[in-house]
Amino acid sequence: MTTSPLTPPPGYDDRDGYIWLDNEMQEWREANVHVLTHGLHYGGSVFEGERVYDGEIFKLREHTERLIKSAAYLDMVVPYSLDELMDASREVVEANNIVNGYVRPLAWRGPEAMGIAAQACKIHVAIACWEWPKYFFPKGGEGVGLALKTSQWRRCDPRTMPVQAKAAGIYAVGTMAKHEADRAGYDDALMLDVHGRVAESSGANLFVVKDGKIKTPVPECFLNGITRQTVIGLARELGYSVEEGIIMPDDLKSVDEIFLTGTAAEIAAVSKIDDVVNIPIGPVTLKLQEAYHALVRRKTAAAA
Ligand SMILES: Cc1ncc(COP(=O)(O)O)c(C=O)c1O
Repeated sequence: MTTSPLTPPPGYDDRDGYIWLDNEMQEWREANVHVLTHGLHYGGSVFEGERVYDGEIFKLREHTERLIKSAAYLDMVVPYSLDELMDASREVVEANNIVNGYVRPLAWRGPEAMGIAAQACKIHVAIACWEWPKYFFPKGGEGVGLALKTSQWRRCDPRTMPVQAKAAGIYAVGTMAKHEADRAGYDDALMLDVHGRVAESSGANLFVVKDGKIKTPVPECFLNGITRQTVIGLARELGYSVEEGIIMPDDLKSVDEIFLTGTAAEIAAVSKIDDVVNIPIGPVTLKLQEAYHALVRRKTAAAA
């Protein structure tokens, strides 16, 4: 589909392709919900974000397990098994001919009830996929680091929300923080937790490097990302020391490198935070980017 500069590009509801919806492969434009869907009104919705590299979904099992767990945190039972969901994810990638792209599974409460109680609501599941470049591209690598603005919004107390659930409701605050950063001309928000400690960005985990040692906040108030866990393992395999601990905003002034990790963001270098941090992209970040890239594309590397 071609668009002129005056025509906005089609939205996510207006594309060719297929979406797996409640165990059926639906035409993309037919995969709709009713406006009185419970999940839309009361935040009863959980999702995943996965990447396809060279035709294979990276860490599909871990993401699918997390989807089921996220639903369980919200007292929702996904009506498909882990294997059924993994098969459906692969099917939808194949149906849309996605070789390198992004997969978005979603589970939500349907329109069978209205009001806080949702026991009568059916749990629906959809899986969509599309081609999607790196989240911050071309920033975060290639010599240009990201600029983060500390948000007025904080990651929530784990007693307020089940923070390990990838629950749509939690993202309302991420969107507000991201908008605040966008308006100020920054690439993303740096979010602190309720105690004022460094937490993460609006959609990715954060690491710092000082004197060759890597440190990352303990995921008490935010999602313990699958990429975060992968990068911790990779870094240790490469011989780096990785500590999980408290990072205060003031500590950022004296670190050598900062980077974000996430399925969408992959490993993205940070160069600026507010007006207090201005650092180049460093060697540890570059090394980890290279190692991560090799890991996610290991299938291709093995075939070469
Ligand atoms: C708020 C938030 N934190 C962290 C992450 C990183 O998680 P993962 O590495 O599992 O994609 C994400 C992305 O899903 C996110 O949205």
